[in-house]
Amino acid sequence: MAVYQATASAPVNIACIKYWGKRDTKLILPTNSSLSVTLDQDHLRSTTTSRADSSFEKDRLWLNGVEEEIKEGGRLATCIRELKRLRKEVEEKDSSLPKLSSYAVHISSRNNFPTAAGLASSASGFAALVASLAALYQLPASPSQLSLIARQGSGSACRSLFGGFVAWEMGSKSDGSDSLAVEIAPREHWPDIHALICVVSDDKKGTSSTSGMQRTVETSTLLQHRIKYVVPERMKAISAAIRARDFEAFARITMQDSNQFHAVALDTDPPIFYMNDVSRAIIALIVEYNRVSVAAGGKLKAAYTYDAGPNAVIYAPKENLKEIVELILNYFPQAEPFKDPFGLFGAGAQGKLVEGFNAAVAKPFGVGAVKNLIHTRVGDGPRVLAPEEALLGPDGLPK
Ligand code: DP6
Repeated sequence: MAVYQATASAPVNIACIKYWGKRDTKLILPTNSSLSVTLDQDHLRSTTTSRADSSFEKDRLWLNGVEEEIKEGGRLATCIRELKRLRKEVEEKDSSLPKLSSYAVHISSRNNFPTAAGLASSASGFAALVASLAALYQLPASPSQLSLIARQGSGSACRSLFGGFVAWEMGSKSDGSDSLAVEIAPREHWPDIHALICVVSDDKKGTSSTSGMQRTVETSTLLQHRIKYVVPERMKAISAAIRARDFEAFARITMQDSNQFHAVALDTDPPIFYMNDVSRAIIALIVEYNRVSVAAGGKLKAAYTYDAGPNAVIYAPKENLKEIVELILNYFPQAEPFKDPFGLFGAGAQGKLVEGFNAAVAKPFGVGAVKNLIHTRVGDGPRVLAPEEALLGPDGLPK
């Protein structure tokens, strides 16, 4: 008997222009456009296998081996329903096709990074879910069309349908049909953009993006200014910077937009704090590192950005990563040796500061303040994987 199954992986993305606010919470339509860099799946990814079978009784999903409830009318159910609807359209045009749209599906998904790291697993997770079901159903849909569905799982997930540099255009229609992801440039355009993720230790339970941004929409007047006057200009300017491979402009806008996102969080009633002392110390280090470069007649060499948590993501051209890792190691000693996937350090990292760096801009922290450093770079979009990579066994349950 035929097995109808497909496996796909999808990347994490980290925004330079932040999505924060919905004008429609059910369809997940944003109050502003946003733009992100897709990170390399060789380092961070979600992988999902989907199978359709006439013997399955209901749709089921396992995340890292643990079954999750698919709530009626919830985000998961919406994504699955929309993909089945597209499959049905295909079946109606070609009656020789198996009626997969009428079968229940089993879905098994895994992240290759710990959920506890506080990295946006919902973006890569929903993108992998949509990519695997689209492969299973052999949908003739473009990444932008699939992004319309991923968006309804988690807003930021729509941007993980592309590699490289990706905009989510907010759109204006009330049905959401023009609120989708588009590629600004593929990774091959600017492969030199690397990222260092500083996983910052966090003992408190933070405010989720979903509830936090809704409170900001309801209470922040600063958000209205951001939506109307700031983001539209920044979207144009950063897209131009990416097209011109102008790191200076890219870095300035990225840092300004991270700062403004955290400012609207603070302008929320009651206020929301996502960054902590460690996050702020990393900002001080990057600001000083850039100051030294500019003082010597050079350019900005790194850009920080923070999402709805204390982790820092530092974007920089590859040639600067060695100095940046040394800088972070100087202030944030690691329990484990730095994992060096690009071979920056032959003999091991020393924690050296660049010439002229004012060491007093931050105090040194103890081991564990930054739990982990992940060095990665701009990456490609979702991949359809070989059958051997499947996460479901012959019995249709997670392996
Ligand atoms: C700060 O996409 O997680 O990371 O649409 O409610 O699922 P929902 O929110 P989510 O929000 C991400 C917010 C952000 C900024 C960004 O990724 O653009």
